[in-house]
Amino acid sequence: MNLPLNISALSLQLPPASPQFIDLYRPNSDAQAMHATVQELTEALLAPAAAVSPKFFYNALGSKLFEAITGLDEYYPTRTEAGIFEAARTHIAATLAEAGIHQPCLIDLGAGNCAKAMALIPHLQPRQYVPVDISVDFLRDAAEQVQNNFPALDIVGLGMDFSAGLALPGEVQAHERVFFYPGSSLGNFHPGQALQFLEHIADPAQGKARGLLLGIDLVKDTARLEAAYDDALGVTGAFNKNLLLNINDLLGSDFDLRQWRHVALFNARESRIEMHLEATDELTVRWPGHERGFRAGERIHTECSYKYTVPGMTALLRQAGFNHIEYWTDPNSWFAVFWAAV
Ligand code: AVJ
Repeated sequence: MNLPLNISALSLQLPPASPQFIDLYRPNSDAQAMHATVQELTEALLAPAAAVSPKFFYNALGSKLFEAITGLDEYYPTRTEAGIFEAARTHIAATLAEAGIHQPCLIDLGAGNCAKAMALIPHLQPRQYVPVDISVDFLRDAAEQVQNNFPALDIVGLGMDFSAGLALPGEVQAHERVFFYPGSSLGNFHPGQALQFLEHIADPAQGKARGLLLGIDLVKDTARLEAAYDDALGVTGAFNKNLLLNINDLLGSDFDLRQWRHVALFNARESRIEMHLEATDELTVRWPGHERGFRAGERIHTECSYKYTVPGMTALLRQAGFNHIEYWTDPNSWFAVFWAAV
């Protein structure tokens, strides 16, 4: 029985600092924000071609389902990107040091479980770590985990929908900012929006960035792409359908998940994976003040995940105003990590 020994050993350690947490999102408790969310979803569902923003995947369950997706055989992006970082992290750290960036403020966009950042923190040695995510409660727990692993690190968690703009609060250090945008989440933006978003980060008056560390999924054969978004276990289907549960919560609607089917396809012309939810029967969805009928086979478009080429992303980064660009890729060229400096 060594319990008393463990207790005395623990009591000698200093408790880690708690992360700061700033919630700028919170649609459930802020009446004005909630109204905007109801408005946005109502318009999305009443449009002739119904289309809902993929940000609505990420309630607490959605974040857990996404975490499960990242462990699937078919979903190659997460482990491929992790492999690139593992192989290149020393080189990446040296590249930042050569650019005169020391102890940066690392701003992690769509941080989720913060696992990717945790692997990099020992190498980049940030002075401040700022995980940002729309999935507020999930992020709060993840930020605690980071703090437990790095007790001395200054952490400012931000609950925020940065797809609507990237106005960072005063608690975020204004100098030596390095934006970390892994996982190919930039692919959720249409190319024009992606350019705007990158321009904002590159603009010294706006993002105050020294640079951006960006993970991007690359164009590859259609079968591999489609399998990654339609796995045999059905986790991605559950992730897609959970969007309807989140909408039921936010809107008070009565979506019945049994009446919807998961669809994922590669649209080669647009170079994007599309996810849809397809009505299996003719049905009507109702929520306060509104209703929407769907024919059997009619779809709600829930996600675009754009796939880039290395030259295409390089050109986009240059156009956005980054002037020093490097990249690393895996042996199959399935995924790329870019360092883009202002
Ligand atoms: C988090 C946007 C990068 O597009 O691959 C995974 C989301 N959707 N499976 C992606 C997602 C379905 C993911 N991103």
